[in-house]
Amino acid sequence: MAYGLEWLNLTVRWLHLIVGIAWIGASFYFVWLDNTIRPPRPGSALEARGVSGELWAVHGGGFYNPQKYLLAPPELPQQLHWFKWEAYSTWLSGFALLVIVYYANASAMLVDRSVADIGAAQAIAIGVGALVAAWAVYDGLCRSPLSRHQGWFGAVVFLLLTAAAYGLSQVLSGRAAYIHVGAMIGTIMVGNVLMVIIPGQKKMVVAMMAGQAPDPVHGRRGKERSVHNNYFTLPVIFIMVSNHYATTYAHPQNWAVLTLMMAAGVSIRHFFNRKHKGVYAWQYPLIGAVLLAIVGWWTAPHLPPLPPVKGEVTFNRVRAIIGERCVTCHSPSPTFPGYTAPQAGVKLHTPADIAQNAQRVYQQVVVTRIMPLGNLTKITDEERAVIAAWVKAGAKVE
Ligand code: HEC
Repeated sequence: MAYGLEWLNLTVRWLHLIVGIAWIGASFYFVWLDNTIRPPRPGSALEARGVSGELWAVHGGGFYNPQKYLLAPPELPQQLHWFKWEAYSTWLSGFALLVIVYYANASAMLVDRSVADIGAAQAIAIGVGALVAAWAVYDGLCRSPLSRHQGWFGAVVFLLLTAAAYGLSQVLSGRAAYIHVGAMIGTIMVGNVLMVIIPGQKKMVVAMMAGQAPDPVHGRRGKERSVHNNYFTLPVIFIMVSNHYATTYAHPQNWAVLTLMMAAGVSIRHFFNRKHKGVYAWQYPLIGAVLLAIVGWWTAPHLPPLPPVKGEVTFNRVRAIIGERCVTCHSPSPTFPGYTAPQAGVKLHTPADIAQNAQRVYQQVVVTRIMPLGNLTKITDEERAVIAAWVKAGAKVE
């Protein structure tokens, strides 16, 4: 069972990455295209055909000449590609991954008793509820008068995401709170494709087939949602990789750290969107860089000092601590429920393995204090101090 989950984790994650690249790649490409195309020459045949913008590009040994019809071409082509499965499969594989990694192992991955003493089922309900609420609130805002003021709309959505990050960080483990903010954004993004962009395009096609002029409102709405999606991409990609960086999600104000990282992403994205139109607005990447620097400085470990060590620091003492606090998860056959291989490939069951990993152990146990994971094995500060003293004295195995 545990091995099956691990294997599913790997294959579904691989799939999620591939389809996610396809989707976000398409998003980057089309927003770039829209920002880069130029109107055809006045009086040209293209203009007469209703082309509103075109562009020449070279790629992979061929020349490409995409043309955009503002409303629709005079007649429908035989074959029309719909960009939608990139989005749907990204959400489906992402949700599957959420189930495999977090919901199937909720008491270890979703719940953190030092954050909130809630049950696994409750935590899962909060997680799924957050995804549904994200779409309902965002879609409501898009349909409200606020959406006519782009800047204010962006600010309100950002504030609401900050509130969600704060709320989730008060009930779920830091890592799970982050991934759920990401999943909320992902749900909004795929909702835009499934509920607005594609249905709008379908209506346009239906109108054209009936020989009527399509209603421009569908094109405008689709464009608006697709631009929102474009600004969501960098924040969501940060969140996807954030689970490797405990200094962010395990920070006491992890929600504020997340907000700064998302703001940096949006600002950098904005620079590129302006740049495609030929405007180099350097203040935006600068803001992004300053925000990243602030996060780097703020999340640097500022941990309380460890207590002084009583008695002699011997390897046997270290080995006993590691045997009691670490080996359940860090041996070739871990006894911790759900694990079938040494976590992160780190084995700590023999003296040679301990010595070999001394620096990494120091980093995890003394500097960041992320290990033991969630302090499930209840290591004490005195024991951390013993490990620190041993490594500082040269990590000798006698
Ligand atoms: C409940 C299970 C569990 C316990 C107990 C545990 N670990 Fe870990 N450890 C993990 C997991 C899971 C990872 C992988 C984390 C990741 O990839 O983000 C890990 C990763 C590590 C890493 C590699 C981190 C890196 O990226 O370099 C080290 C080193 C480590 N643990 C040391 C220890 C030490 C030392 C102890 C005991 C003081 C310990 N662990 C206790 C589960 C555990």
